Amino acid sequence: PLPRPYQVPLPVPAVLRPLRADATTDFYEITQQVAHLRILPGLETEAWTYDGSYPGPTLVSRSGRRTVVTHRNELPQPAAVHLHGGHTPHDSDGHPTDLILPVGWSRRHRYAMADTSGVGRITLGERTYNYPMDQRAATLWYHDHRMGFTGPSAYRGLAGFHLVHDDEEEALPLPRGERDIPLMITDRSFTADGSFHYPALDPEWGMPGVTHHWMEGMLGDTILVNGAPWPVLDVRRLRYRLRLLNASNSRIYRLELDPPPPGGDALVQIGADGGLLERPVPHDALPMAPAERFDVVVDFARYRPGTRVRLVNRLGSGTTAEVMRFDVSGATRAPVDETAVPARLCTFERLDPRRAMAVRTFSFRRTTAGWTINGMPYLPGRSLATPKLGTTELWRIVSDFHHPIHVHLNPFQVVARNGGAPGRHDAGWKDTVDVLPGQSAEIAVRFTDYTGRFLFHCHNLEHEDMAMMADFVTR
Ligand code: C2O
Ligand code: CU
Repeated sequence: PLPRPYQVPLPVPAVLRPLRADATTDFYEITQQVAHLRILPGLETEAWTYDGSYPGPTLVSRSGRRTVVTHRNELPQPAAVHLHGGHTPHDSDGHPTDLILPVGWSRRHRYAMADTSGVGRITLGERTYNYPMDQRAATLWYHDHRMGFTGPSAYRGLAGFHLVHDDEEEALPLPRGERDIPLMITDRSFTADGSFHYPALDPEWGMPGVTHHWMEGMLGDTILVNGAPWPVLDVRRLRYRLRLLNASNSRIYRLELDPPPPGGDALVQIGADGGLLERPVPHDALPMAPAERFDVVVDFARYRPGTRVRLVNRLGSGTTAEVMRFDVSGATRAPVDETAVPARLCTFERLDPRRAMAVRTFSFRRTTAGWTINGMPYLPGRSLATPKLGTTELWRIVSDFHHPIHVHLNPFQVVARNGGAPGRHDAGWKDTVDVLPGQSAEIAVRFTDYTGRFLFHCHNLEHEDMAMMADFVTR
């Protein structure tokens, strides 16, 4: 039996404090551990967590200040941590074969369970990730990226926010502090005893993949926001910044506020995956595929006192059509709002696709070999592109199904869809682009700073685990 929606307050993950800091660097430690969480009323859910909570603690970095995170793996299985949206050297990028084996694993385990591709660098017990954070203010997130098992690991709770701030953004009069709220939206299913229900092909996790019924991606019947089912947030009649993240394994949402405010344009988008847009883009509805982020400002002063505003999912039905609720304060006198959404948010550099040094086509298809890119399932060490640092490339992505495509290392710009103009929701710097069945998208990417082996893949985690992934090597 599912809990009733709108019974619990919205949790906001705690911000992690650095263990120490010096002139250039903040140092953090996170322990990956099993924890028993209260997600459903009266039941306990065994979760895999960063530091005991789901979502994990939020990390906050200053652009240009190095962030160093040591992850200790006390889970029963290997792990790999990827900072999604991070502009990160390859040895800290959480490549799926760069595994952290659990604390206390024996050599026998090491040989039996470790990556056998020969390309991964395996560490025992812990690993330190180095993030230079030479990048713009943006909403990033970190999650597990273990080869073949990203789906079940993330599903069990291995995901958290990592926010980057910079001077340019802080100079703007946008809502901040308690009115700047990250919202991690996921769907989950539970068994009667409260456990996460994930339809793994092999319950022992020896082999990746899901049961045949879920081949196209796992969908749950319970929507969690920041780990709580259909929560409620009390808001004042003021502007709020909401950092929306779809951290679901495969569910796609179309988010709207219900009721919409008079005049519409409820969701004023100010940022995308890679930070601020040049100008705000108002939306009535936001389509959101896995791993995408949309930073929006909602002005609750547009609602009458006491209005209950639901965030709904127009692509869902029944329980999956509801996401969360904002209860607008009943005070009749609206407080003075010192915030604003400026008509110009930042100076924005547009990549010129005509100057692309290489044009590549990647076809994401299901074949007899499974979920493939250009007909090939993932093979660690086989690279499908070798971009030269400092150059821009044009990647044409062709899709047979719904595939949200993510490129590591550098953000990109969507320059075309199906040969025509990109959509309203494609604005700004992106790192994930949702390509619809039978459609195509063209993205311009400029590769910078770090040579080495990186990844691009479908962010439908079931497709990813079933090999819809490829390496590229920058030089
Ligand atoms: Cu969010 Cu390669 O992943
Ligand atoms: Cu896919």
